Amino acid sequence: MEMHFVFYMLCYTILFHFLTHNEATPWAKRQCQQIANGYDCSDMDLQFIPDEVPNSVLIFKFSFNYLPALYNFTFQRLNNLHSLDLTRCGITFMYEDIFMHQPNLEVLILIGNPLVFIAGRAFSGPLALKYLSLTQSKIKSLSDIPSENLAYLEVLEIGGSGIRSLDGLSNFHWQNLKSLQLEMNSIDRINLTDLQPIHNVVGMSISFKGNDFVNIEPSAFKSLNLSSLDFSGCFSKMTFSSVLRGLEGIKTNRLKLGLYETDPNVHIPSAALQSFCKITVTDLDFQLQHFSDLNNSTFHCLEGLKKLDLTRAHLDLLPFNMTGLSTLSHLVLDENRFSDVCHINTRNFPVLTHLSVSGNSKQLGFSNGCLESLRVLEELDLSLSLVKPIGPCCNDQLFGLGELKLLNLSYSSPMIWSSQPFSATPQLEHLDFSHSLYTLNDSSPFNNLQSLRTLNLSWSNTNLTNIHIFNGLKTLQLLNLKGNPIQGGVLTETELFKSVPLLETLILSSCKITAFEENLFKGLTHLRQVDLSENKLVELSTSGFYSLEFLQLNFASNAIVIVDVGSVMNLGKESTVDLSYNPLVCNCSNIQFINWVKKNTIKVKHLMETVCNATRTRIIDAKLQCGFPVGVLAFVIILIVIIIASAIFCLVRRIRSYSRYTQL
Ligand SMILES: *[C@@H]1O[C@H](CO)[C@@H](O)[C@H](O)[C@H]1NC(C)=O
Ligand SMILES: *[C@@H]1O[C@H](CO)[C@@H](O)[C@H](O)[C@H]1NC(C)=O
Ligand SMILES: *[C@@H]1O[C@H](CO)[C@@H](O)[C@H](O)[C@H]1NC(C)=O
Ligand SMILES: *[C@@H]1O[C@H](CO)[C@@H](O)[C@H](O)[C@H]1NC(C)=O
Ligand SMILES: *[C@@H]1O[C@H](CO)[C@@H](O)[C@H](O)[C@H]1NC(C)=O
Ligand SMILES: *[C@@H]1O[C@H](CO)[C@@H](O)[C@H](O)[C@H]1NC(C)=O
Ligand SMILES: *[C@@H]1O[C@H](CO)[C@@H](O)[C@H](O)[C@H]1NC(C)=O
Ligand SMILES: *[C@@H]1O[C@H](CO)[C@@H](O)[C@H](O)[C@H]1NC(C)=O
Ligand SMILES: *[C@@H]1O[C@H](CO)[C@@H](O)[C@H](O)[C@H]1NC(C)=O
Ligand SMILES: *[C@@H]1O[C@H](CO)[C@@H](O)[C@H](O)[C@H]1NC(C)=O
Ligand SMILES: *[C@@H]1O[C@H](CO)[C@@H](O)[C@H](O)[C@H]1NC(C)=O
Ligand SMILES: *[C@@H]1O[C@H](CO)[C@@H](O)[C@H](O)[C@H]1NC(C)=O
Repeated sequence: MEMHFVFYMLCYTILFHFLTHNEATPWAKRQCQQIANGYDCSDMDLQFIPDEVPNSVLIFKFSFNYLPALYNFTFQRLNNLHSLDLTRCGITFMYEDIFMHQPNLEVLILIGNPLVFIAGRAFSGPLALKYLSLTQSKIKSLSDIPSENLAYLEVLEIGGSGIRSLDGLSNFHWQNLKSLQLEMNSIDRINLTDLQPIHNVVGMSISFKGNDFVNIEPSAFKSLNLSSLDFSGCFSKMTFSSVLRGLEGIKTNRLKLGLYETDPNVHIPSAALQSFCKITVTDLDFQLQHFSDLNNSTFHCLEGLKKLDLTRAHLDLLPFNMTGLSTLSHLVLDENRFSDVCHINTRNFPVLTHLSVSGNSKQLGFSNGCLESLRVLEELDLSLSLVKPIGPCCNDQLFGLGELKLLNLSYSSPMIWSSQPFSATPQLEHLDFSHSLYTLNDSSPFNNLQSLRTLNLSWSNTNLTNIHIFNGLKTLQLLNLKGNPIQGGVLTETELFKSVPLLETLILSSCKITAFEENLFKGLTHLRQVDLSENKLVELSTSGFYSLEFLQLNFASNAIVIVDVGSVMNLGKESTVDLSYNPLVCNCSNIQFINWVKKNTIKVKHLMETVCNATRTRIIDAKLQCGFPVGVLAFVIILIVIIIASAIFCLVRRIRSYSRYTQL
């Protein structure tokens, strides 16, 4: 899976590179962007450091440009450099003293450069270089990396470079090294002497994933004390047993021994796992492996293990009375082919806190009482497994899980709920029932879930005509009701949300809502986010909310044409409204709203997608000439006429009385 991802990323990067390197590409940027503490001049076809980059820059991104050789003057004036990214700059030669004037340089990224020559003093200058990435750099040997000036190195990445052996490892200073990434190289053998240089290093992470080993000397990793070791995808030329024999004597927190989809199948015999009696590990990954003769003692050497990942390990059963896994706290059994939850035989894992059986490849039966022994289970993920409870759900199935906090039953088969279906799990805090259909027996199924904080009932055909459905959910903070059509389109049940007073997030998108009752949300004094997108609302109405001080309103993809400015005017500083993908009209009926948007752009989400229906231009770009409305105009004219008339009248009277006075 991971390898596919890497492959797509690579294609994407290459394609993107190709597109943007084309001179004719109109969208190629031509100016460096200022970023926090630095400049980003990547992807500009540059062959030198542009003048606009100030000497004081700390972080400098210069990837996807062209610098075939680096000299002692290339970065001369950038004296404060802390981090430098030179990904895919076509660098072939690195000469002496390149970073002579950069004593503070700590991060140097040289990914994807076809390095042919690195001078012995190429890295001199920085007082404490900590992170060096030479991934995909065509370096054939570790001894080609001058190591004298790398005494403070913490991370060294040389994946995908064609390294053939661990020769040269002894040149490095290891006292600070925390991570050595050697994935996707061509290392084919490791012996005890090779690893001698790192024998006294404690807590390092090493990755050898994707190397095709031919020989690993037995106990080559003896007495290493690592934080993580990755041997995924290393089994195409060596048997699993011989790799494991090489690891005997190691102590590591994590150990990855999985495969990639593109790897040939590997069948692990139980006998091979005997080596684990001489390996100390707490977190083990066997993704995509086959176990050829699984029985109750296969894992007996894993005593002490805390986490076991058996994703897609082709399992349909875990044996009774298995020994060795009694200390397990996390078990991942995703993408296997169990036919019933009972076949996991959970009695083997008395202290399990997390169990995941997601994405089972066939419908997963859920019989009664088979999880009973998981007294301390906190998280149970049965999503994407078409879970089919045997009989009414879920009291008998979840029997014994008194400590359960999270239950994921999304993408299950349709089921019938018993009355009070979750009474076996009163501590539940998160319940995900998305994309699953249920039939209710009583009207208030969640009555006992007094600690529930999130409830996802999206796409579950929940009938919101039942106003008692949320009874008991006193502490609910998030309620997702997406995709449950409202009968008649008008949400009128003002009682519906009375039982969830602490609700902060309410998702009612795609519910075919045409309107809602004014006071529907009035009681929700903690409401922060309301998602009413993808409905059929014709009006933006905010009068029904308790407060507009801190409210994120999502009305995207509705049928709103004209927005009454009064409904958005009182949105507080921290509030936002999303009106993207509505058929907004840009004529004078909407001018007040459009002007409000222009003045309040930070309160409008998805401004780019908030457009005039007719012209598809963003409404902040709409240019409208709107005079006074005729009524107002007429009123003003009449008013002016009256004022002038009365003024003339007064004047005339005054003149008259004055002349009368002077005549006297
Ligand atoms: C680069 O190196 C040359 C010769 O080694 C030296 O003369 C020159 O001063 C150096 N330039 C800088 C900027 O350090
Ligand atoms: C270990 O392997 C290296 C090369 O990978 C070789 O030079 C050395 O002789 C080997 N040492 C032993 C003890 O086999
Ligand atoms: C391994 O290193 C850890 C620290 O990372 C330390 O606690 C532990 O005692 C070490 N174990 C051995 C066997 O050296
Ligand atoms: C488990 O399988 C291994 C290998 O097939 C075998 O040696 C061992 O006896 C079996 N153990 C039990 C208890 O059946
Ligand atoms: C499992 O072990 C218990 C005792 O530890 C024993 O009574 C029971 O018969 C065993 N079950 C199987 C199937 O071996
Ligand atoms: C393992 O299975 C064998 C038979 O297959 C049985 O004799 C043995 O008692 C089992 N071990 C445990 C621990 O139950
Ligand atoms: C439940 O599982 C689905 C599918 O694996 C996942 O997308 C979702 O985030 C999970 N829900 C919770 C609450 O973890
Ligand atoms: C539904 O509830 C009634 C009464 O509480 C009960 O008799 C019946 O068995 C329940 N049905 C299911 C499917 O749980
Ligand atoms: C259910 O909703 C919650 C909260 O919105 C979300 O975290 C979870 O991923 C959703 N589950 C699925 C299967 O989408
Ligand atoms: C929803 O529930 C109401 C009463 O609670 C009922 O009248 C209605 O038929 C139900 N609708 C559906 C689609 O089941
Ligand atoms: C603006 O457009 C809407 C919808 O097309 C229309 O109802 C309204 O009368 C128009 N207003 C003006 C001032 O033209
Ligand atoms: C929005 O524009 C589309 C075509 O661009 C048109 O079919 C539709 O009727 C318009 N909607 C409104 C409400 O004006």
